[in-house]
Amino acid sequence: MSEVQQRKKIILSGIQPTGTFTLGNYIGALSNWVKLQEEYHSAYMIADLHALTVKQDPIKLRQQILSAFAVVLACGVDPEKSLVFMQSHIHQHAELNWVLACHTQFGELSRMTQFKDKSAKNADNVNAGLFTYPSLMAADILLYQADLVPVGADQKQHIEITRDIATRFNHLYGNTFTIPEPYIPKIGARIMSLAEPTKKMSKSDENTNAFVTILDKPETIVKKFKRAVTDSDMKVCYAEGKDGINNLISIYSTATGFSYEQIEKEFEGKGYGDFKKAVGEAVVELLRPVRENYERLIADKAYLEQCYQAGAEKAANLAQCTLKKVYKKVGLVMK
Ligand code: TYM
Repeated sequence: MSEVQQRKKIILSGIQPTGTFTLGNYIGALSNWVKLQEEYHSAYMIADLHALTVKQDPIKLRQQILSAFAVVLACGVDPEKSLVFMQSHIHQHAELNWVLACHTQFGELSRMTQFKDKSAKNADNVNAGLFTYPSLMAADILLYQADLVPVGADQKQHIEITRDIATRFNHLYGNTFTIPEPYIPKIGARIMSLAEPTKKMSKSDENTNAFVTILDKPETIVKKFKRAVTDSDMKVCYAEGKDGINNLISIYSTATGFSYEQIEKEFEGKGYGDFKKAVGEAVVELLRPVRENYERLIADKAYLEQCYQAGAEKAANLAQCTLKKVYKKVGLVMK
């Protein structure tokens, strides 16, 4: 086998430390980070620089960054197996962002749906960082020469623009970056709001009944599922137009491992009340170990610091190697 065939693939992903992570973050991304670390060289980061694209309270943000780091470990990301770090600790992200931004067109950035959504939501703060957000995300991915990027469906467009930027750069300067592929789960790539099931579940939703957070107490989780919006059909089956029930079926399926057919059979002749109770209880069990690990980890600041310092040291070496190559290729004088 050649060296190229033997190379273990690299994955990179990130999460913004804005608010407590939701069940959507867990099912769509974090649970896959844990699975994939067994098979790949994995790098996971807290996208703290990306969080600055919306207004933040500095004291709260600092707590949220540390808490986000603890949640990632609590989910099962193992710092012995994966590289785990804070984006801002690696200055090369901001530097590569600049070079990539100079190779990204205004028109491409204007088409990003996340930019359109976020600028509508934060009309008083449509800043340049919000607009160039995708080139920083491209830098995150390309610095580590990632082959795969495990994300939920909402990030697909950002991976596509990363691929476009990388391909353009390689074409102009010769092979520099690995072209990454998105890794989007078949079930759970887009967990919907429990209150408005045509909308994505989001941690920034004003209605707290719309989302379940990874750290919600068991009784809160059960209560939120009891209140989940469904329909008047009263049949637990996956079908077009049954957005609320479809969402609950995908959540139940990922939490239990049951197929959609098995779920439909289990709840044949039963009402939505029984189904919603079962989904709530399955999610409580899914998240129980995460919450318990989190309580332990967040109390051990010294351990967390040791982990992110070690992660930063290793990540910086990899990032510097790519950045140096890029600076040379674009014609900068090396010191
Ligand atoms: P963020 O912080 O919004 O979300 C983190 C991850 O959770 C996924 N996700 C969902 N999946 C399923 N259903 C949902 N309702 C749901 N909500 C969120 C997201 O798709 C994401 O995978 N730009 C990124 C952070 C980032 C990044 C990166 C990701 C920065 N640099 C480099 C990958 C690679 C973001 O805002 O994710």
